[in-house]
Amino acid sequence: MREQLAKIRAEALAAFESVQDAARLDELRVKYLGKKGELTALLKQMGRLTPEERPVMGQLANDVRAALEGALEASSKKLEASALERRLQNEALDVTIPGKAVSIGRQHPMNIALDELKDIFIGMGFQVLDGPEVELAELNFDRLNAGEGHPSRDWSDTFYFDRDSRVMLRSQTSPIQVRAMDALPLPIRMVAPGRVYRKDEVDATHSPMFHQVEGMVIDRGVTMADLKGTLNTVAEQLFGEGTKTRFRPHHFPFTEPSCEMDVQCHKCGGVGCSTCKGEGWIELLGAGMIHPRVLEMSGIDPEVYSGWAFGFGLERLALRRFKIDDMRLIFENDVRFLEQF
Ligand code: PHE
Repeated sequence: MREQLAKIRAEALAAFESVQDAARLDELRVKYLGKKGELTALLKQMGRLTPEERPVMGQLANDVRAALEGALEASSKKLEASALERRLQNEALDVTIPGKAVSIGRQHPMNIALDELKDIFIGMGFQVLDGPEVELAELNFDRLNAGEGHPSRDWSDTFYFDRDSRVMLRSQTSPIQVRAMDALPLPIRMVAPGRVYRKDEVDATHSPMFHQVEGMVIDRGVTMADLKGTLNTVAEQLFGEGTKTRFRPHHFPFTEPSCEMDVQCHKCGGVGCSTCKGEGWIELLGAGMIHPRVLEMSGIDPEVYSGWAFGFGLERLALRRFKIDDMRLIFENDVRFLEQF
């Protein structure tokens, strides 16, 4: 029996020592230490021993069991450690492999220009307003002193929704002036950007949909000097210090006097070039003192209050700001174009 114990011990230890995987190790555990294993089978034969031999063999058997259990434990730890090592190697990240580039969208050049503009006006105490693109002709025309028969009301210029020409896509952001006068307490200082619609053919400088930014100030004692001072400041902030402007007389039904403001061409400095079509100046906006009749229609006493307003095309501003030469690029949303800003 002693020899058998020694044999089991030697065999089992050698097997535990050389085992390569956990499943095989478990098989070995069952084989040597399990209830039906070799050691148990041997112990079952203890009854055949003499009473003197029994405790000696019992002790020996216990030693063998302890040695086997120790070896099993050690082997199992070794296998776990090498399995972990293998996993670490397999799942290792190579942080030096170049990643997949994530492309983030950009702000549209027109929105960049609009944000700059809003910042300038907010800095001067203006509030930013919004108005509906589907507008009443009453607000787009009548309340702006463009009554029946005014050429801009013509079906060939304007998108109407109904035969009575009462509801339309606004042709200008100026109806927001009226909405502001109706809704807000005086004094008012506001800018209002938005889309406008006209029956224009698409070309390098025209689109049936474009954006305007309206501006309006109403207070006691407001004059044309305030209008010029404010717009000159804005022009300098947009196009750089020392930017020269010029105000030319013009006509709008809702302003009197009316003017257009030009900025000196940034490219030729006023000499005349292709950008300014030889003029030396580039038209930027329409403006004027709000017509007393417009104030009256909104219940504002023109003897007490006066105001000025301006409106300009945002696309044209963005074209100038970013030196883009064709308005269609603004709307086509070609990523190769947009990525440049
Ligand atoms: N609404 C005018 C246009 O579309 C511009 C303008 C606005 C002129 C405000 C004067 C005052 O041409």
